[in-house]
Amino acid sequence: MGGSQEVILFGDWNMLTKVGEKKSVRVSTAGRVASSSVKASNIQRIGIAKTKKSKTAKTKKGGKTVAVIRVPNNNEVVRSIKGLHTEILHSFKMSLKKGIALGEILTKTKKELGHNNWLPWVDKYLPFCSRSATNYRALYSYRKNLKSAKVSDLHSAYKLISEAKNYHRSITREETKKRRRSFADKKSDFKNSKSKKYDGRIIAGDNYKVMKRMLCDGMAGKYSGVVTSPPYNADFHYSDSFDDNKPYDDFLKETLKPFPLYTQLLRKGGRVIYIIGSVTKKKNRNDNGDYNHQIITDLLMGVKKVAPKLRLLNHIIWDKSGKKNPLNNKYGSFCSPKIPLTRCCFENILIWSNEEFELENIEKTKPDITEKEFKEWSWNVWKVAPYSKPGNPHPCSFNPKLIKRILKFYTYKNDLILDPYAGVSTTGVVCKNLGRRYTGIDLNANYCDYGSDLFQSA
Ligand SMILES: C[S@@+](CC[C@H](N)C(=O)[O-])C[C@H]1O[C@@H](n2cnc3c(N)ncnc32)[C@H](O)[C@@H]1O
Repeated sequence: MGGSQEVILFGDWNMLTKVGEKKSVRVSTAGRVASSSVKASNIQRIGIAKTKKSKTAKTKKGGKTVAVIRVPNNNEVVRSIKGLHTEILHSFKMSLKKGIALGEILTKTKKELGHNNWLPWVDKYLPFCSRSATNYRALYSYRKNLKSAKVSDLHSAYKLISEAKNYHRSITREETKKRRRSFADKKSDFKNSKSKKYDGRIIAGDNYKVMKRMLCDGMAGKYSGVVTSPPYNADFHYSDSFDDNKPYDDFLKETLKPFPLYTQLLRKGGRVIYIIGSVTKKKNRNDNGDYNHQIITDLLMGVKKVAPKLRLLNHIIWDKSGKKNPLNNKYGSFCSPKIPLTRCCFENILIWSNEEFELENIEKTKPDITEKEFKEWSWNVWKVAPYSKPGNPHPCSFNPKLIKRILKFYTYKNDLILDPYAGVSTTGVVCKNLGRRYTGIDLNANYCDYGSDLFQSA
């Protein structure tokens, strides 16, 4: 085929009449409507086609506007298309090569700078945005496939680039996950190292301040139990600086103050196991001079207010009768109904759970309570006589037997236990004997020293 071909274009009359100019016209070639660019000098004839239907505008006479144009013959067209296409593919391959090389530089630079410095560096020094940088890096990471790939047309070229982008996206997603995981590991290692700092520690100081510090050290949620007994305001002499005979309201306020910190230090389901006598004064009277046992009511209501996450799980009566009552209550009017007083032979063990009642066995240790123990101790009156080791400097330390029951009934092996009013760390000694971990705090450094010796040799 030589010369030129005639193609009939249907289009807008006004557009086609401007001979010699390059015009964009809406034309319909072989009956199809299309956007086309027609060099007006190629228009040979313009006329009206009355037979063909078209969607283009109709003339007043009712026919279609048509233009007959001359186009180069097929061979010429195909040759020039082929030539250009080969050139395009060649330059695409060259661009790909250069893109991979650029991607390599960017990948290495990113590695050297580190993830955090990368974006600011791109912003500051590169003439393109971080997304373009990522695309180049994608070419580099997909280089093996790119080098061996056959690019026969633009479609396969674009496909190849999008494959490179997807591949890169998938590996960077994996890298990000890894980076996050290792960051979380490092964070938890750091926290664990802190938690080790409090494992087996007996700290002399005010419990509120020490617990605040513990929270700053990442100890929130680390404890399974707070096993303790606060001062009862019963006029004991714990140390020269501590007043155990305060106005009742001050005593109550001071007792309630650390409760919100207990909830923060405890994990979900962790327990506050709180041993407290019903009498708050040696003389067994409140500030109005009434005889009362009001501390339990006030404590329960107060805890609801200051630490609402704590939920009352159990209330056990610790029956201490049988031995000399350390609170030394009087009979009142002996053998007369005048003002008879009951002699207090019990204390209360209040057990709250943090947020939920169930305590998960995180370490999957085997519960160490026997069936016999469980059956006996699940009654809510516990008869355990008070006991103090000879030579113990503390006026009212726990009987270890009582703590043994508490720990076996309410905690798992390896759980971390806190006693914020540790005294001589009876709780700590029993914890060690039963395979629990322990932190103790007491205001009195002498008790702490004595307790540390007991704890070390346990
Ligand atoms: C009832 S005793 C606990 C005795 C302990 N369970 C034992 O077995 O030795 C109360 C202890 O709380 C301590 N204490 C009082 N206020 C304190 C505070 N704010 N911080 C730390 N310890 C405190 C006292 O020094 C006392 O030893």
